[in-house]
Amino acid sequence: MAIKYGRPIEARLGPVEAKATSAARLDLSTRPRRNRKAEWARRLVRENVLTADDLIWPLFLVDGTGTRVPVASMPGVERLSVDEAVRDAARAAALSIPCLALFPYTDPTRRDEDGSEALNPDNLVCRAIRAIKKEVPQVGVLCDVALDPYTSHGHDGLLRDGVILNDETVEVLVRQALVEAEAGCDIIAPSDMMDGRVGAIRAGLDAASFTDVSIMAYAAKYASAFYGPFRDAVGSAMTLTGDKRTYQMDPANTDEALREVELDISEGADMVMVKPGMPYLDILRRVSDAFDMPTFAYQVSGEYSMIMAAAQNGWLDGEKAMMESLIAFKRAGACGVLSYFAPQVAEKLKGST
Ligand code: PBG
Repeated sequence: MAIKYGRPIEARLGPVEAKATSAARLDLSTRPRRNRKAEWARRLVRENVLTADDLIWPLFLVDGTGTRVPVASMPGVERLSVDEAVRDAARAAALSIPCLALFPYTDPTRRDEDGSEALNPDNLVCRAIRAIKKEVPQVGVLCDVALDPYTSHGHDGLLRDGVILNDETVEVLVRQALVEAEAGCDIIAPSDMMDGRVGAIRAGLDAASFTDVSIMAYAAKYASAFYGPFRDAVGSAMTLTGDKRTYQMDPANTDEALREVELDISEGADMVMVKPGMPYLDILRRVSDAFDMPTFAYQVSGEYSMIMAAAQNGWLDGEKAMMESLIAFKRAGACGVLSYFAPQVAEKLKGST
């Protein structure tokens, strides 16, 4: 079919354009829009779906009882005392969210050079694990292994003369993992990016008969500005000296992510993670293509806060942006997503069925 333009436009065409226009053809033997013509048709051909089963909900913890402290840089997110965390765990269960991730705001008086509070079996995280596993045992609990919520300098490892020590840090991380496993943690998630830590933690857990405790490795974790609001939430923004570029990955790299993931799998990781999420969807796709492993994405604090800030300003539809950002992870190959939007997403999915 020749493209036909109305008189006024054709009249304005020069001879060359007029010839090109009359030669142009539209091949409409295939019309992709047919599959988009109605909601039922779009649902029928949809390639990826998001369900509550895909969600891991990160919670921030704080001392006290009946306490919910808003995190200024993360609208809608609060630090919760243990009893409040138990309430949110029950909410997760009601919403069919399979797993929580716990992050403590450690009182500054209990932070020190070596992050020794990480090894206290009665620290905030351990108390929360025990309370949640007692009251809401059907919800999985994931905990970070890294020293940053506990160190006075805000780094994930031991700092000596301006250097983050690797091997010495790994020894402490193994002990931190054992303390968390003892408290009842289901998934240990090393987020520190020290070399060799997954293998050491696996060996430590197995030697202590925690053979059923899983490891989700923060395998490809980049040195990212998008962690800013998280560091407010756990109180390490005020303490962090320097940056984490000697252990977290360079945002310019992609082959290196595959090497990191391969190492963590060979050391015994059960699941791997790419972090941050949206700016690193290319990495997620490569990792999920390259390895037959459950691969997770962490939609980090800065991603959450960007969407919330724009929504609060009326610059975009927050709920639509939220859902679109999450289906993007599924499309890029994620098996699941850690997201501060988890309860809102689960509520919305519940409402839509
Ligand atoms: C701690 C840790 C961080 C995040 C998860 N675990 C921050 C960091 O490495 O500095 C970031 C999560 C987020 O931004 O939502 N190692």
